[in-house]
Amino acid sequence: MAKKLKHSVELTVYANVDELSVNDKELIERAKKVSKTAYAPYSQFYVGAAIRLSSNEIIEGSNQENMAYPSGMCAERVAIYYANSFHSDAKIDTIAVTAFAKGFDVNHPVSPCGACRQSMAEYELKQKQPIRLIMTGESGDIYIAESIETVLPFMFNEIELKKE
Ligand code: THU
Repeated sequence: MAKKLKHSVELTVYANVDELSVNDKELIERAKKVSKTAYAPYSQFYVGAAIRLSSNEIIEGSNQENMAYPSGMCAERVAIYYANSFHSDAKIDTIAVTAFAKGFDVNHPVSPCGACRQSMAEYELKQKQPIRLIMTGESGDIYIAESIETVLPFMFNEIELKKE
C-alpha cells in the first residue's frame, strides 16, 4: 500500500526589523550594504548576502552577472564559497540575504534559489551544525529559518560520494 510523504517548511515571520537581535540586524545591514556592489546589468536585481561566522567575523557577497548568462553567480554562493575558501575551519552561524531592484520595490523576503540552497546545505552538512537563514527585502516581513535543511526538504544527499 503506497503512503504519502509530506515535508513542511517552518519559518519565523517578523513584521519589523526591530524585533530582531542586534547581531541579526547588523547582518541584514551588511547584506543591504553589499547588495550595492552587485554587478547586475542584465537583471538589474541586486542581491546581497552576509555570513556571520561563529567567530563573529562577517563575510559578504553580491551577485555577479555575465553576458553569457549561466556564467553569472548568485550572491549567496559568492559569499559562501569565499567563506569556505578563506575560513574553511570556521563554522557558519547565520546567512542574511536581501535585494533591491531597478524598476520595482522588493517588498517581500528574498528566498535563495534552489542551487544556492543546495550549496548552503553542503556546508551545513560539513560543519554538522545548522546555519540560520535570514530573508528580507527592501520592506515587508522578515523570514528566519533555523537551518538550510528547513528550506530544502528532500535535498540531494549522497554522502557516500565523499571518498575519504
Ligand atoms: N540571484 C541571487 O543572487 N540569489 C538568488 O538566490 C537568486 C537570484 C541573482 C542571480 C541574478 O544575478 C539575479 O539575481 C536575477 O536572477
